[in-house]
Amino acid sequence: MKRITALGEMQSFAASNRRAGKSIAVVPTMGFLHDGHASLIRAARHKAEIVVTTVFVNPAQFAPHEDFTKYPRDIERDARIASDAGTDILFVPASADIYPQNYHTYIAVEELSGRLEGGVRPTHFRGVTTIVAKLFHLTLPHYAIFGQKDAQQVVIIKKMVADLNFDLEIVVCPTMREPDGLAMSSRNVYLSEAERRQSTVLVRSLREAEAMVRSGERDPKRIRERMQAMIAAEPLASIDYVSIAHPETLVESAGMESGRALLVSLAVRFGATRLIDNCVVAVP
Ligand code: PAF
Repeated sequence: MKRITALGEMQSFAASNRRAGKSIAVVPTMGFLHDGHASLIRAARHKAEIVVTTVFVNPAQFAPHEDFTKYPRDIERDARIASDAGTDILFVPASADIYPQNYHTYIAVEELSGRLEGGVRPTHFRGVTTIVAKLFHLTLPHYAIFGQKDAQQVVIIKKMVADLNFDLEIVVCPTMREPDGLAMSSRNVYLSEAERRQSTVLVRSLREAEAMVRSGERDPKRIRERMQAMIAAEPLASIDYVSIAHPETLVESAGMESGRALLVSLAVRFGATRLIDNCVVAVP
């Protein structure tokens, strides 16, 4: 595995490999890699001849009060995990190169970016789409691999790719979970022992929602209320939102139609740590 930090070197490596007819897959990450990221890198390995994993903690997607400075970082550990999972190029750009002084260009996918997470983190997705578009220009991928854990991010990036005519395919991989069901996330390391124990309420409430739909419940409001009650029963948990929405428009569902799919998603805080999770439920 080769490490590249210079933007020009990354772009000319990608361009010359494209010219030589090689396929490229990119796995954008903010580092502090875990098994979830490794599964994305393995998926990239199956798709393309060249796998680029990017590590960049993107300041543009953090609000001033969020955890940008304390976001966990360990580039040597990342390099080992990325290499073991099959990365060819570890792209680790510097912030000053990505956002030089006098940087003024941002990409925003309107409407979708204001829903769900956007209601609580209004500038977040503008930062995500801006960096992802830049990473696409720098790594010139045929495939870009993302995790379903960030369901709204996937919907928004797909929309950006369609609207801006990026010539690449978005590949979405399933959420990887700890043995007790907690979705893997770099932020899980922030949780205290008690918070970690109670954090399984996210996946438990999602499973409850699935079970309710399977057993005939068709009122999203009743499902939301049941999930909210389960989460409220955990003393350290505080709900940002619980949503049952259309999986593409992200508009909150008032009812359910047989044969349709719904995105059930939630964001819950444990102290300063904010966790998200989701599942897609097919209505029988
Ligand atoms: O999902 C993430 O880790 C980030 O949002 C991404 C896509 C790497 C952009 O910074």
